[in-house]
Amino acid sequence: MRITIFDSNEELDSRAAALIASTVAERPAAVLGLATGSTPVGIYKALIRQASQTKLSFAGVTTYNLDEYVGLPPEHDQSYAYYMRQQLFDHIDIPLEQTHLPSGMAADLAAECARYDRMLASQPIDLQLLGVGHNGHIGFNEPAEALVGGTHVTDLEPATIAANARFFEREELVPRQAITMGVASILKARQILLVARGADKAQIVKQALTGPISTACPASLLQTHAHVTVMLDKEAGKELMSDDSALHLVYS
Ligand code: F6R
Repeated sequence: MRITIFDSNEELDSRAAALIASTVAERPAAVLGLATGSTPVGIYKALIRQASQTKLSFAGVTTYNLDEYVGLPPEHDQSYAYYMRQQLFDHIDIPLEQTHLPSGMAADLAAECARYDRMLASQPIDLQLLGVGHNGHIGFNEPAEALVGGTHVTDLEPATIAANARFFEREELVPRQAITMGVASILKARQILLVARGADKAQIVKQALTGPISTACPASLLQTHAHVTVMLDKEAGKELMSDDSALHLVYS
């Protein structure tokens, strides 16, 4: 696990975007696993900028998003499908039919999860971008006694609902359920890029990267993966900097 702590968010965004861009440059038919939320916003902006400067084409790329709210149609401005078009897809040359999110509107959600897993099995992810929740969730795999491997419907924790309420007019409007890729699907990615920013993530970042590997902190499972790159701003990395463990820390 290579952990880099950046002095500025601009530098973090640009280095994270460069990793995604180089994956696509090396493999024009790359399969990218993508995330939503506030963490990737600056990364997608930097990626759009870099792609336009270097004329990088996404025409052969396929994407799979981690999750989608149950009950929100793709036109809803808080759906993750809408977010992805706004933040990334509308600004690069990727054909929309090569971009995939689970549908939270499917009449048969179990069938939708199975469909998503079949697609993921046929197109292994080259690079999976991840944020982390304050409770250690990745995707919407919330802390639990047991985690689920494949795509599934999950009840969001009250803390997750409260955290995501900032994007909605009122907390009551935040969906209570989501479809999420499971931890086994996430861990199947060839490479994982975990990004976190802000002092409010410092504690969970330390727990995830240096604490016990436990379903109580789903992000701690990343310790079992052979190719994880972690990019943190100095606020999110501050608990690690005082840590004298054998972590391979790079300060940038
Ligand atoms: C988003 C996702 C979530 C977020 C996490 C952090 O697709 O799967 O796990 O990455 O909740 O959210 P932010 O970035 O808003 O702090």
